[in-house]
Amino acid sequence: MRKPLFSFFILLLLLLLLIPLLRPRWYLNLTQRVEISPAVGAALVERRGCRSCHIIGGSGALKAPNLDDAVKRESEETLRNWLANPRAMRPNTPMPNFHLSDSEIDAIIAYLHALP
Ligand code: HEC
Repeated sequence: MRKPLFSFFILLLLLLLLIPLLRPRWYLNLTQRVEISPAVGAALVERRGCRSCHIIGGSGALKAPNLDDAVKRESEETLRNWLANPRAMRPNTPMPNFHLSDSEIDAIIAYLHALP
């Protein structure tokens, strides 16, 4: 009787296929590992279009809080939580979840710290 074993592998395969869709934190950290530097953070902010809502480094839109003084206003923990999961911070926030890895979040925060 091989059938139970076969079903088990099919199930396992389906679960493996689901991982890139659900993007758990460990998966993001594995596949989106970046150097933690202000330059990398700046590139991420550019690529993800944060300025379509926020003012960052003096330019951007005013649909969301100005991030130029965010590191002074908010704790590191709060900023990290906003970047990791905006809906967990405010359920009806318009800010999308960008599925950022921990190192990407660190790079963005390093960039915010480096702003004049
Ligand atoms: C569609 C608009 C939108 C985009 C795009 C967006 N945000 Fe936001 N973000 C918001 C809004 C609005 C808030 C304020 C929370 C609220 O009222 O829902 C916020 C809150 C934040 C906060 C917390 C600020 C504070 O003072 O507490 C941080 C940090 C932040 N966003 C960073 C980013 C970064 C970095 C990006 C790009 C990766 C980004 N956001 C993209 C709309 C956006």
